Amino acid sequence: MADLQTVVTPAELRSVLAAAHAEGQSVGLVPTMGFLHEGHATLIRRSAAENALTVVSVFVNPTQFAPTDDLAAYPRDLARDQAVAQEAGAALLFHPQPQEMYPVGHATSVSVAGLSTRVEGASRPGHFDGVATIVLKLIGLVQPTRIYFGEKDWQQLAVVRRMAADLFLSTEVVGVPTVRADSGLALSSRNSYLSAEQQVQAAVISRALRTIQAAYAGGERDAQVLLQAGRAVLMEEPVELDYLHLLDAELEPLQGYLTSDQAAASRLVFAGRLHGVRLIDNLPLIAQE
Ligand code: PAF
Repeated sequence: MADLQTVVTPAELRSVLAAAHAEGQSVGLVPTMGFLHEGHATLIRRSAAENALTVVSVFVNPTQFAPTDDLAAYPRDLARDQAVAQEAGAALLFHPQPQEMYPVGHATSVSVAGLSTRVEGASRPGHFDGVATIVLKLIGLVQPTRIYFGEKDWQQLAVVRRMAADLFLSTEVVGVPTVRADSGLALSSRNSYLSAEQQVQAAVISRALRTIQAAYAGGERDAQVLLQAGRAVLMEEPVELDYLHLLDAELEPLQGYLTSDQAAASRLVFAGRLHGVRLIDNLPLIAQE
């Protein structure tokens, strides 16, 4: 396996990628905020399997954090990220400074109306504008054939897909199923804020989502009753619930009795805090495995 090359400026990145583009090679992009875990490694491996060359970006994007969020405290470990990216098959790691991605005078931001302000967007105003803007900047720089996102950030994936369709981007947006610990806990950089014991407690989230799936499989069709079954499970641990919804493809909450078409296209989404750490997760209503 060739050595991973780390580049830090947009100009350097463009110049390193010029040959690959000139030769018509396929390029995969895995955008990340670093502190890579097995979930990211899965995205990188998938990209490496599907493209001639894989670029991993490691950039803690300030525009997707609220002023009240502690941007400085976001976990960072570049040496480990380089090792994970190399091991998973990436060729290039792009690690720019904020002033390279947002130079003095930058004035453009992207907003995907509707999808960005619902659900998670209502709890985190401006967050998805920051995500859409940095993702479009990265696509502009890398010109990837494919870009990879984990399904764990379900709304992020929906926002990016809509942006790519609306702006006629030629990059294919690939969603990859969430990687979970044996306990069912969805892998996330934020899990590092929880102790081992607290991570065991956090498995209640996937248990709650699976309980709802089981209730649906058992014949329950009332959205309120289904969600109540999940809320009851969440109460087993000290979870401060932000939301638990069953969403349609437009990320609008479903209510009342579900038709089978509604159920098939729906997604269970959770957000809440455990010991002060905000966690999110989601699953389809109809279990797939
Ligand atoms: O999912 C993330 O880590 C970030 O939102 C992303 C896509 C890298 C944009 O900063």
